[in-house]
Amino acid sequence: MTEPIVKGRNLVKRFGSVVGLNHADFDLYPGEVLAVIGDNGAGKSTLIKCFAGAHTPDEGEMWLQGEQVEFRSTHEARERGVETVFQTLAVAPALDVAANLYLGREERKSGPLGSILRMLDKKGMRQRSSDHLQNLGISTLQNITQAVETLSGGQRQAVSVARAAAFGSQVIILDEPTAALGVRESAKVLNLIQDLRGRGISVILISHNMPQVFEVADRIHVQRLGHRAAVVTPQTHSMNDAVAIMTGALQVPENEQTLAPLGSPA
Ligand SMILES: Nc1ncnc2c1ncn2[C@@H]1O[C@H](COP(=O)(O)OP(=O)(O)OP(=O)(O)O)[C@@H](O)[C@H]1O
Ligand SMILES: [Mg+2]
Repeated sequence: MTEPIVKGRNLVKRFGSVVGLNHADFDLYPGEVLAVIGDNGAGKSTLIKCFAGAHTPDEGEMWLQGEQVEFRSTHEARERGVETVFQTLAVAPALDVAANLYLGREERKSGPLGSILRMLDKKGMRQRSSDHLQNLGISTLQNITQAVETLSGGQRQAVSVARAAAFGSQVIILDEPTAALGVRESAKVLNLIQDLRGRGISVILISHNMPQVFEVADRIHVQRLGHRAAVVTPQTHSMNDAVAIMTGALQVPENEQTLAPLGSPA
């Protein structure tokens, strides 16, 4: 049986008297796109923030590649290969595209210029950013030295996703990456997600857009009232079913769920 790359059990997160997560379980398997859907306030962002290191759960356990983990910061999660594009985008608008890709992990020049004078290897970072975007098939960003604040919403989103995809991450979490995007830019982000999966990267996609979810997801985790109500697939359930599970109108018995990917070796 293939092991989940990310696993959570019984996760509880309280904000004072508000319960964000109420004994939530979670499984992401290697190389899959897992959509996470649910009503506003169902706990989707809270859930992924635990795996992203932005929240520490009050109760429950988390595993990464079979090893139990406790992240105390997003930095720690990143170090372990979990990259997140948060719902509120974390880009630095005044910096250019290359600087945003390398934000928080700037590379210095080799030799004493870098080690003693702490000079940044701007040229190298720009070259590598450009190569990287090209590899990802992001062609809308022609100028790597353009300030991010002058980019369109879709291009900014592309920078955030590219940043997440840039550093050999194994797990990429995208919280509503297409919420602010038009049809064409959304399609690009969806292509990018498929491309990431093609590279063996596991993707968690939070979205309210059912057609998009049904287009790209291998499995769909439905979050409701702070926990996992069911896991279904586009093959086994319809969009109407998914919405009914979200609202509590439909309950799916465990033997009709897809808690592990279909066809995963037994
Ligand atoms: N930092 C916080 N402080 C207090 N309450 C919070 C905080 N973060 C989340 N909550 C509460 O926890 C619950 C779950 O919120 P969460 O942001 O995870 O929902 P969501 O499923 O991502 O919703 P949306 O679809 O609107 O993004 C909500 O009731 C929310 O008000
Ligand atoms: Mg959210």
